[in-house]
Amino acid sequence: MAARENWGSRFGFIMATAGSAVGLGNIWKFPYETGSNGGGAFLILYVIFVLVFGLSLVMAELLIGRTTQKNPIGAFRELGGRWWSPVGAMGIVAGFTILSFYIVVAGWTLAYLLAMISGDLSNGDPQHLSAKFGEFISDPYRPIAYAGLFMILTAGVVIGGIGQGIERAARLLMPALFILLLILVLRSVTLDGAGEGLRFFLLPDWSKVTGDTLSSAIGQAFFSLSLGMGALLTYGSYLPRDSKLPSAAATVVVLDTSVAILAGLMVLPAVFAFGFDPQAGPGLTFVTLPAVFAAMPGGQFFGVLFFALLAVAALTSAISLLETVVCYFVDERRANRRRVTLIAALISFVLGVPASLSLGIWSGFQVPGTSMSIFDFLDFTASSVMLPLGGLLTALFVGWKWGPQALSALSNEGEPRFALGPLWLLVLRYVAPLGIGWILLQAFV
Ligand code: TRP
Repeated sequence: MAARENWGSRFGFIMATAGSAVGLGNIWKFPYETGSNGGGAFLILYVIFVLVFGLSLVMAELLIGRTTQKNPIGAFRELGGRWWSPVGAMGIVAGFTILSFYIVVAGWTLAYLLAMISGDLSNGDPQHLSAKFGEFISDPYRPIAYAGLFMILTAGVVIGGIGQGIERAARLLMPALFILLLILVLRSVTLDGAGEGLRFFLLPDWSKVTGDTLSSAIGQAFFSLSLGMGALLTYGSYLPRDSKLPSAAATVVVLDTSVAILAGLMVLPAVFAFGFDPQAGPGLTFVTLPAVFAAMPGGQFFGVLFFALLAVAALTSAISLLETVVCYFVDERRANRRRVTLIAALISFVLGVPASLSLGIWSGFQVPGTSMSIFDFLDFTASSVMLPLGGLLTALFVGWKWGPQALSALSNEGEPRFALGPLWLLVLRYVAPLGIGWILLQAFV
């Protein structure tokens, strides 16, 4: 086999991994999940899950990848034997599932980018904006065409390989996005009536917490960190064996969580200031932000910049989803990179079509046995079931099967011994399996 490609630099690796983590999950999903799940309490649960389970598992996945230099299935097989390879396989399935609805929403960002450029969103009236969004996503053709366009862009970068495509795309975007978010947060929290939104976002109302809230919050934590399906494992597999992991993992987690919180501060105060419904669901960011832009000087400029950066943030995330799937077929099946990428992209796109239609002409249809649309069902199954389950099994794997050897794998090859290593192993052995297992059970009883 040809020598495995490596990241060009540590900075490039961190930016690409943060690029995978930071995406629609932070800016589109987090605000509306928080809005639908009662506000502050959801925020606190999410942050707790990120710190308690997320951080340790991000490190675990990166380490499995760095040690084996393999795709998820090959990596679990190498370290754990064939009984463990299904954990990797579930990740591949989750990847397809997430990608299918991810590109739908990513398509919306492209459409909104064009609408901002053409001045089509200059009327900031909240009712008008909600109606416009509703009209757009229920159109049977346009959102699907944009999803297809986005899929083509994603496949294009993945065909280019990691150094060329992924790393380069991520390095510029992250800092730019961060600065723009800060500007928009400033505008949002200074709107008349923003205070109520701030209270909603920051002050917990524990009476609103149910089993559903817990499973949404853990699903959000995993989704946002790109955790539980082997995407981080795959990125770790392109790391040189002597690179330091704990600080890289912590950087990625802090960046990702700060972007989510900034997005909450950007969207929720404006939701209340303009009288939108915080429970509006997947459209929340898309209806609220154009109203914010309309209320600021240079709004069109900021709007164009925002949707452009959001589209690129979505791209660097979608790339990691597709890359994980492709990496498996290229490594294990010796498939042609270009061909696999195109086939995987096509399958995800085809799965994405019903997801998009379920928000429009098929909105009356509910997945049998549930009260969910196809879109919500794909999201729920992948984010709140498969990802936490993948994380749970990864924790068990590293904590028990790999065990103390994982600690030496962490510190060998020149890396100084990691002082918190034993604590990390303790979390993976007991805290994560019991905590995640308990929350998964809540979702079903
Ligand atoms: N984390 C990304 C976001 O927040 C989405 C994503 C990319 C993802 N790769 C993933 C989610 C792997 C789960 C697993 O938008």
